[in-house]
Amino acid sequence: VRMVLIGPPGAGKGTQAPKLKERFSCCHLATGDMLRSQVAKKTPLGREAKKIMDQGGLVRDDIMIGMIKEELSNNKECQGGFILDGFPRTVPQAEGLDAMLKERSQSLQHAVELQIDDSLLVERITGRLVHPASGRSYHRTFNPPKQAMTDDITGEPLVQRSDDNAEALQKRLKTYHAQTSPVVNYYQKTGIWKGLDASQEPGQVWKSMLAIVDSGS
Ligand code: AP5
Ligand code: ZN
Repeated sequence: VRMVLIGPPGAGKGTQAPKLKERFSCCHLATGDMLRSQVAKKTPLGREAKKIMDQGGLVRDDIMIGMIKEELSNNKECQGGFILDGFPRTVPQAEGLDAMLKERSQSLQHAVELQIDDSLLVERITGRLVHPASGRSYHRTFNPPKQAMTDDITGEPLVQRSDDNAEALQKRLKTYHAQTSPVVNYYQKTGIWKGLDASQEPGQVWKSMLAIVDSGS
């Protein structure tokens, strides 16, 4: 499958994407996770990106397009298709993606918007815990790990993301509405847009997701 997930911070992109990856044996490319791995390695890009991410801004389009292009070309898992999570986030990124797929005589099949009211996101974001190495996320109340502050699979510690506080969230939401909402319109025009209600519980969101991707369109 070749699809993108669009939705505000906390909508559930990173919760649903690994399940899609499993089901379709393709790659899951989360640009936020890729940037956080650069931050952890303290690369020049990581140092620059950390400031931008903590302020809820966006890393430059050419850098992000380059990152996705590199993965789609070299990551073997992507030969079976891809789930993009957090990309494209601007119209130029969406155009960049279309251009790179065209070079491969491919096109996107689904652009799924995870629709949810901003008011529900504060609790999701401030309660989130993540396993940095894998990007797996939990929630203190909605999806607690089996042992407090410990990843279920590796037993390693869970942490809170440095941009997961109420103040940075407001900036991320502002950026989302200004820069990423136009991407929804972009895909509505091309006819591959589908919306789902992301305020439902995770199992129900997954059912809505499958109804979209299994519809064959
Ligand atoms: P990124 O990491 O992509 O962050 P984001 O878009 O803000 O999205 P989140 O990861 O916060 O939300 P999610 O939808 O994945 O939610 P999750 O499933 O974890 O990007 C971070 C930053 O990097 C950006 O701000 C930007 O600076 C930069 N960046 C990244 N990509 C870029 C790009 N393309 N261009 C430029 N800059 C870029 O769920 C959240 C919580 O809710 C979890 O605790 C989860 O357990 C819980 N939860 C999930 N689903 C449900 C449910 N149905 N019911 C109840 N709880 C739920
Ligand atoms: Zn995420």
